[in-house]
Order: sequence, then structure tokens, then C-alpha cells
Amino acid sequence: MKFFKSSPSSLQEIILDNEKLPQHIAIIMDGNGRWAKKRFLPRTLGHKAGVEALRDIIKTASNTKIAYLTLYAFSTENWNRPNDEVSALMELLVEYLRKEGEELHSNNIKINTIGDIDGLPEFARKEVLRAKELTKNNTGLWVNIALNYGGRDEIVRGIKRIAKDIKEDKISIEDINQEVFSSYLETANMPDPDLLIRTSGEYRFSNFLIWQSAYTELWFTDILWPDFRGEDLLMAISDFQKRERRFGKV
Ligand code: FPP
Repeated sequence: MKFFKSSPSSLQEIILDNEKLPQHIAIIMDGNGRWAKKRFLPRTLGHKAGVEALRDIIKTASNTKIAYLTLYAFSTENWNRPNDEVSALMELLVEYLRKEGEELHSNNIKINTIGDIDGLPEFARKEVLRAKELTKNNTGLWVNIALNYGGRDEIVRGIKRIAKDIKEDKISIEDINQEVFSSYLETANMPDPDLLIRTSGEYRFSNFLIWQSAYTELWFTDILWPDFRGEDLLMAISDFQKRERRFGKV
């Protein structure tokens, strides 16, 4: 696949090898607040602009035939933000799913979530469940939205599920290994992420997919999330394809 990246001074060609596409891309969409601050706008408008980026990335990932895209939309720690910002994020999520749910569905995209959606306000939980139900049989790009998600929280909930199954004699302690443990996480039916992208010049995991990212390739950019576009995703994929993945071997 050949693409062109437009920059102010030149047109840069991006060539992707179809045989070496990452199967699963995870993204920490960071920098909405700073994007707004630079423009003397309220933070919530930064999130609103972030939805535009999200749209473009889903479209590009789907056209590029990526199988899984996992997006960090709301962490377990994000509840500590001011109430109006939390509400604005929930409303943006609902508005996005209401407006775009049908289009995502007609593009064969499957909406899934990771994280404890029972902790979301009822109006948001309802809309999320509706979008999941509508798209559940789709076979194209699988979009996982991480909502009320934290990696440590996910691991603890996985341990509780295992403990319950042990108590009910469904498995024994000896059966537990890495693979079995993975199957108790919310990413059970997906491959681990091959590539993790974080925008806005921050270099942290921030509790995102911490178990699943053991061998994930990391890609960072200074671009703030609302400015991130499909061609930036393609650049990240192109860089990924130049890396040699050894998984601890020589
Ligand atoms: C980080 O920017 C971004 C978030 C906490 C939320 C991401 C949400 C969206 C992109 C839009 C809503 C999502 C959906 C699924 C419709 P930040 O606020 O931490 O930015 P800062 O570090 O510059 O303050």
C-alpha cells in the first residue's frame, strides 16, 4: 500500500508492507487539554476536537485493514477531574455513538469496550450497550473503547474471576499459567497489542494494557491528540514495520 503524507514543504511517500501490518494497535489519546489551552479554549473543546481525530483514525485503521484498535478514552483515574469535564466526556461519548453508530455499523466495524462500564453514568452505559449490540456480528475493524479502564483494576478483576472459578471447582490452581490468566482479562479474545501509540510528548503507560503490552512496540509523538490524523497513524505503522521484534530471543 502506498500513501502520501502532506507536510507544508513536501509530499512524503509512505509505503506499507501488507504482510507486516500490526494486528492490534493501542492508542493513548493524550493532549486534548493542552491543545485547548494553546487556543485559550476550555478543555472540553479540546476533547471535542479529539473526537474529530478519533473519527479519522478509525477510518484509516479500517481502510488499512488493521484488525483491532484499542483506544484509551476514560481511565479509572479520570474520575478525579472536575465534574464538568467528566460530564462533558460522557456526553461526547454518547453523542459520538448516537451520531456515528449507524455509520460504523455500515462499515462493518465492531464496537467493543474494556473497563468496568457498570461504573459509567446510566445514560452513557445504555448508549455503549446499544452500540455494542448493534455491531456485535460485524467482522471488520474491532474498535475497543477503554472506558472506566485501568490496567491494575483489570488485573485485580481477573484475579477475582479466577478465584471464583477455583472456589466453584471450575479450574484448579495448577491450571493457571500466563495464557489462562490472559483469558480472564477483558482482552481475552484479542491478540496482545503489537504497537502502542501515545501522543503529546508524554512517555508513560498510565495504567493502560500493562499486562498485554509486555512485548509491544512503543511509538511516541509530540503531536497533540486533536491534531493527530490518519497519515500520522500510517507513519507509526511504517516505523513499526522497520523494527525487529525479538520477543526476548536473540
Ligand atoms: C487526554 O487528554 C484525553 C482524554 C482523557 C480523553 C480522550 C477522549 C477523547 C479523544 C474524546 C472522547 C472519546 C470518545 C470515545 C468519544 P488530556 O485531557 O489529558 O490532555 P492534557 O494532558 O493536555 O491535559
